[in-house]
Order: sequence, then C-alpha cells, then structure tokens
Amino acid sequence: MEKKNTKSNFESSDEDIIENRLRPKKLSDYIGQNKVKDSMSVFIRAAKLRNEPLEHILIYGPPGLGKTTLAYILANETETNIKITSGPAIERAGDLVSILTNLEDADILFIDEIHRLNKVVEEILYPAMEEYAIDVVIGKGPSAKILRVDLPHFTLIGATTRVSMISSPMRDRFGIIHCLDFYNENEIAQILSRSSKILDLTANPESIKEIAKRSRKTPRIANRLLKRVRDFATVYNKGVIDKKVTDDSLLRLGIDKKGLDEVDRKYLKTLLEKFAGGPVGVETISAASSIEKDTIEEVIEPYLMQIAFIKRTPKGRVATDQAREYFGFLKQKPN
Ligand SMILES: Nc1ncnc2c1ncn2[C@@H]1O[C@H](COP(=O)(O)OP(=O)(O)O)[C@@H](O)[C@H]1O
Ligand SMILES: [Mg+2]
Repeated sequence: MEKKNTKSNFESSDEDIIENRLRPKKLSDYIGQNKVKDSMSVFIRAAKLRNEPLEHILIYGPPGLGKTTLAYILANETETNIKITSGPAIERAGDLVSILTNLEDADILFIDEIHRLNKVVEEILYPAMEEYAIDVVIGKGPSAKILRVDLPHFTLIGATTRVSMISSPMRDRFGIIHCLDFYNENEIAQILSRSSKILDLTANPESIKEIAKRSRKTPRIANRLLKRVRDFATVYNKGVIDKKVTDDSLLRLGIDKKGLDEVDRKYLKTLLEKFAGGPVGVETISAASSIEKDTIEEVIEPYLMQIAFIKRTPKGRVATDQAREYFGFLKQKPN
C-alpha cells in the first residue's frame, strides 16, 4: 500500500523538549491573540478576587497556534494544578470517572482533541461540568443502583482543531469559548526573536523576517524552521544565521516563498491538475493525492483558506485565481 502523507514527519522527542522550553509560561509572554489575552486576564483576575475556580473554557483553532500553551498559562497564572489528557486517550467511561474523582478543588483538567471523545464518555462529562457530580451505576440487573458521586469544583479546558465536530450540548456547557487566529508576520517575528534568545542564537532581523514569512502564520512551525535553519547554520556557516543561509536551508527543506511545503503543493497540484481547480470533494482529493483526509481538513486547508488559495463551497473545494497564478495555471486557461 502506498504510504499516506501526514504532517508528522518532523516529530521527535528532542523536538518536544525544545518546544517545552520555548513555550511561554506567563500571559505577558504570550505574543499576539490580543482579544483572547485581554479576556483571559479579566477571567483570571475575577476568579482570583472571588476565590473561585475558572469557568470551563473551550479553545479552538488550527494546530500549532497556542491552545496547549494557553491552558498551561492559565494554570500557571491561577496557581492551580493541571492534569493533561486527550479525547482519544479516554476510551471507557471508567477512565473518565477515575480522572474526575482524582481531581482536587480548583484543578484544571485539560482535554486535548476534545472532539474525539466518544459519546458514552461525553455524556458523563455533562453533569460533571454542570453540577460537579457523576452518576455511577453499582451492580447489575434489577438490583443495580445509581449512586451520585460529588466531584471537586474543577475547571475543564477543552482544545480542538475541529469546533464543528463538538456537539451542541457539549459546547453549551463551556462558559468561555475562544478561537485562536493565525498570527501576522510581525507577531511571528516577535516569537522567533524570543525563541532565538532562549536558544542563544544570533539571527539577524532579515533572516527572522524571512522565516516569519514562510511559517504559515503558525508559531510551532516558526520555531521548527528556526531550529532547522540553526542546524544548517551550524554545519555550513559557523553558526551564524544570515539571510543567505536562511534562504538556502528553507530551499533545501522544500519550503517555498509562501511557506508551502511539499504536501501543501501536492494538495494544490492535485486540485489544479487532476480536477481543473475544482469544485471537488475532499474525499476525492484525498484519494487522488494519498494525503489523509484529516490532514487535509485540519492542517492543510485552514492555511490555504487563510491565504485565499482555496475556498470551501457546498459543491467542494475550489482553487482561487491566486492559487492558479502561483502555480502558473492562469496562462493555460482559455481566454
Ligand atoms: N502566542 C504565542 N507566543 C509565543 N509562542 C507561542 C505562542 N503560541 C504558541 N507558541 C509556541 O508554539 C508552540 C506550539 O504551541 P501549542 O500551544 O502547542 O499549539 P496547539 O496546542 O494549538 O497545537 C509552543 O511550544 C510555543 O513555543
Ligand atoms: Mg496542543
């Protein structure tokens, strides 16, 4: 079978360690997302003044924009413990019950990829969120009893890349819902400068600007590219990150002027060459390009929509004139 393309080929545990070092710990170090930051700082202050736990918070947005970081910051700023889990990790009702009953007052429970919780588990979460209680069935058959178990007043923080997949009863139980947006180039440049300081690198402003331009407006990608450029600079340029070594390494990594990588280009070329720019359904693009559907919808398309290269229409995906032009397709179009 042909190997499916996913965007996880950068991943390794070393990367995770560095990612943690680069993760801002305080709200004041969290760059951009000003609307979210402003309201978060109000919630934090209000919760502290009233000496109450935070309300349940749902954070959504494409991967790498800072959802997990924000959850850690909230825990840090309110000086509370945070327990981390994810939708797919909670397989059975019992898993969730044990997580919930082991929490303490004011603890934060962070559930990543919360859209992937199964229905049974989700239904236990409803009363837990609303009434801080769960109903546990004891015994079997006619003699079975339902026992109500009180829970501590915890705060649930849910994160998701797919807000449309969150059921409405679930969504309604969050007091605060925040969407993270893509960052502008200036914000990404600030993140890169901060990361350079932490990693003790010397990168000139021109190089920072170039990496920022090609980072898909995404902090995680910006930090990864910075680390890759640093590797190239170490080997070929005595550790100095200048414009030339930056351009050379990004070229070697297959990252183009728009920040598109090989998989993005494969997606776009499939759409343009095999389907004349659409409209075409996502399953069809997935089959024709052998890029996983989830990768397409969660990773590739949000950025391509952001830079106005594609549109999602009721009939399917459509490439815009900008995308055609970028790949030199406009000239081939009749008249
Ligand atoms: N607003 C921000 N300011 C500075 N760095 C950020 C910001 N948001 C994200 N990052 C960096 O990007 C990395 C990925 O963020 P993360 O919170 O893990 O994204 P998500 O959970 O949305 O996929 C973090 O390790 C952090 O270094
Ligand atoms: Mg995350």
